[in-house]
Amino acid sequence: SSPGDFGGLKVLVTAGGTREPLDPVRYISNRSSGKMGYALAAAAIQRGAAVTLVSAPTSLDPPAGAELVSVETARQMYQAVMERFSTQDVVIKAAAVADYRPKIVADQKIKKSDGTLILELEKNPDILYELGQRKEPHQTLVGFAAETEDLEANAQQKLRKKNLDLLVANDVTQPGAGFGADTNIVKLFYRDGRTQSLPVMDKKTLAHRILDAVIELRSQTHS
Ligand code: PMT
Repeated sequence: SSPGDFGGLKVLVTAGGTREPLDPVRYISNRSSGKMGYALAAAAIQRGAAVTLVSAPTSLDPPAGAELVSVETARQMYQAVMERFSTQDVVIKAAAVADYRPKIVADQKIKKSDGTLILELEKNPDILYELGQRKEPHQTLVGFAAETEDLEANAQQKLRKKNLDLLVANDVTQPGAGFGADTNIVKLFYRDGRTQSLPVMDKKTLAHRILDAVIELRSQTHS
């Protein structure tokens, strides 16, 4: 990485796990801590980018210099990202977005009763898929894939289906990888079929490696 290589670029990063409310006091969510996304935002700021961080709830302090947009649900994240997408050069989607939300959000706290409680879930919009559809040639789109099986096949499929330039796949069953940890173990998948397995590394170091890959891709397509 070189200091200032993101100068003049606008970078939008999403981070954290969305929360899908069930009633005024409960929600469905996932184990994302936001560390991966916040590390990417901080690294991009260090390298001179103008950074927007669209974040689901986390316990982290946002990196100084980021424009923070706080959201809770997948639909709020969808709206926040879509409103800003056309002005961005690079979008990196590290957030763990809930694929489904409770169909009905109760106005009052759901009461305990004798029988089984059945929740009906409906599909959330796939933000990354929509971005892939709208992407302009000057924009670089980076997605993540959190997999527990068939990493290679699932990653290749997500890369193509979502029209990404780069996909960062983590096998979240490995110790030291994925949700919550300070480190991650990933494999990078490029559009041209290249792949690169990276060793376990601190999420802050990995963030810089991902940004290196973005700069390399942009120098190939925009020079
Ligand atoms: O936050 P940490 O604790 O540091 O953990 C990091 C992480 C494991 C959350 C991160 O490395 C990661 O893998 N993030 C993506 C998690 C995820 O939702 O993966 P997915 O395979 O379900 O989704 C694929 C991609 O589509 C992701 O870029 C996701 O942001 C995006 N997506 C998914 C669903 C949806 N409705 N909209 C989306 O945009």
